[in-house]
Amino acid sequence: MSKEQAESFAWKVMNESTPGKPAPEHKLRLGVLISGSGTNLQAIIDAIADGTLPGVEIALVISNSAQAAGIQRALNHRLPVIYLPWRKFPRDAFLREMTPNEAQIAGLLQFFRVDLVVLAGWMRILSAPFLERFNRRVINIHPALLPREGAGEIYILSNGEQIPVFRGMHAAQMALDAGISITGSSVHYVTPVVDAGPVICQQEVAIEPGDTEDSLQERLKLVEHKLIVEAIKQLL
Ligand code: GRF
Repeated sequence: MSKEQAESFAWKVMNESTPGKPAPEHKLRLGVLISGSGTNLQAIIDAIADGTLPGVEIALVISNSAQAAGIQRALNHRLPVIYLPWRKFPRDAFLREMTPNEAQIAGLLQFFRVDLVVLAGWMRILSAPFLERFNRRVINIHPALLPREGAGEIYILSNGEQIPVFRGMHAAQMALDAGISITGSSVHYVTPVVDAGPVICQQEVAIEPGDTEDSLQERLKLVEHKLIVEAIKQLL
């Protein structure tokens, strides 16, 4: 083989894709933030593994709790997982900039080239500067029915009945305390107002007689496992 032929061959090897092998396509890279059991993280892992979420990969899992069982779930699947303790800072000091916690998270999300941030049982409030930086790229699972556009205090059920909107922690308990018979879960974009961003998908769940916060929360989670996968699919 002449020098020219060898050079041309080398050029082809380096620059032409192998016939039959698809060009590497860009996958939607998720950063999943957890604080607890991580069953929603597991639902995403399983949906990627069984082909329900083609074109999606988990780039990074971040936990603010060292005890979160979700960390082990990530490790079981050899996913990069980082424990970042959430330090307390005076809220007023960080109105226009991210807190140091968030700056660390933002740096990691950028380093791992995350396209979409999924709050899957993440129990910390993210500031406006952080959310502006990741505008419409942060979604959350909330165990209550939120109005379609996010804001508002009343939700109209499919049967026409009006129920209050439950935000914040213990939304399942709030639904029980309100004496209603139907609640549900929503996946929504995260905005600076807690649990008030536009809804991506949601589902009603019946409250059974004798339900406790735990039993209701567990049934809501079963629905959430489908909703979070559906929401990510919608955003592909
Ligand atoms: C879910 O019920 C979700 O609605 C709420 O936190 C819970 C997380 O559960 N935001 P897991 O850690 O995914 O099991």
